[in-house]
Amino acid sequence: MVPVRGAVSFAYKQASEQTRFDTVFQMCGQAWAPFCALIDVIVEVFMKRVLSRMLVASGLLLGASAFSTTSFAADGAAGPAKPDAAKGGQLFDQGDASRGIIACASCHGAAGNSTIPVNPNLAAQPHEYLVKQLTNFQVKQGAKLPLRNGPGGNPTPMTAMAQNLTPADMQNIALYLAQQPLKEPATAGHEKLVELGQKIWRGGLPERNVPACAACHSANGAGIPGQYPRLSGQFPMYIEEQLKLFRSGDRANDVMHAVADRMSDADIKAVADYAAGLR
Ligand code: HEC
Ligand code: HEC
Repeated sequence: MVPVRGAVSFAYKQASEQTRFDTVFQMCGQAWAPFCALIDVIVEVFMKRVLSRMLVASGLLLGASAFSTTSFAADGAAGPAKPDAAKGGQLFDQGDASRGIIACASCHGAAGNSTIPVNPNLAAQPHEYLVKQLTNFQVKQGAKLPLRNGPGGNPTPMTAMAQNLTPADMQNIALYLAQQPLKEPATAGHEKLVELGQKIWRGGLPERNVPACAACHSANGAGIPGQYPRLSGQFPMYIEEQLKLFRSGDRANDVMHAVADRMSDADIKAVADYAAGLR
């Protein structure tokens, strides 16, 4: 199963937006049945969201409706309960077919230790940070796009994955993941980039007002609870891609936009590789 998922992730990354679904469906015609059941659910959730947006746009949905409750799953009426890591772990491992929630572990690995570089490691990330990201992947009612998009403002796979999570689900999953150890951290891959990467990490680029990454992500890259994510042990290509998304604004965040906006592709590549290799 793992090599299959790897191949699909790779194909997904390579393909243009228009050909992605086609590619996946061609593969579904072959011997990929178990994976394709998963894809079916993704497409279903995705279509539900598109449909709900079309309905809203065409004015058919004035006022509250049953549809908006399924699309934007409601929080419990009783107010915020204490997060429950065991429930979070269960949802992460198994998903919830009745609510169109796919098992997160199928992409992010057991206990958030991913084996596929396009799917980030989630183990040992700060609780609050994870909750914020899951919230930012959702399309809020009345908004055209989520705060966190892929390149060119296109949806990331997470747009569909996060859409049906309630605030309580997010709290539970985030608490579970924050408690999991990062068992097989990714490593840096380019010795030649160390010098520049280390310089940016420790001292920033003063001539361009780029601050030292260590100031917010901590000297060893482990992050700072709760809003500063861990970068050490994350996949270098994921870190690189996120810095470019902050720079383009496709991933909305004022602080990181200001940081990335002043960095070249070469700066980004070097610091991404260095950060991944920190321990
Ligand atoms: C089909 C594969 C897939 C599934 C299933 C999936 N994810 Fe993701 N997830 C991704 C990808 C790809 C990204 C990177 C998105 C990006 O680059 O914007 C990601 C990113 C994330 C992030 C952001 C991490 C960070 O460091 O900022 C969180 C949090 C997350 N996923 C949680 C979940 C949860 C919780 C579930 C289950 C409800 C889930 N994912 C299911 C593929 C998946
Ligand atoms: C002033 C504080 C601050 C500084 C300095 C800073 N960051 Fe960040 N960084 C943040 C915050 C806050 C977030 C979370 C953004 C969000 O909520 O989406 C973040 C997120 C990130 C992410 C996304 C991680 C993920 O899992 O998706 C990357 C990558 C990153 N920063 C890299 C860097 C690098 C490299 C530098 C140095 C060039 C740097 N940051 C400097 C505050 C900072």
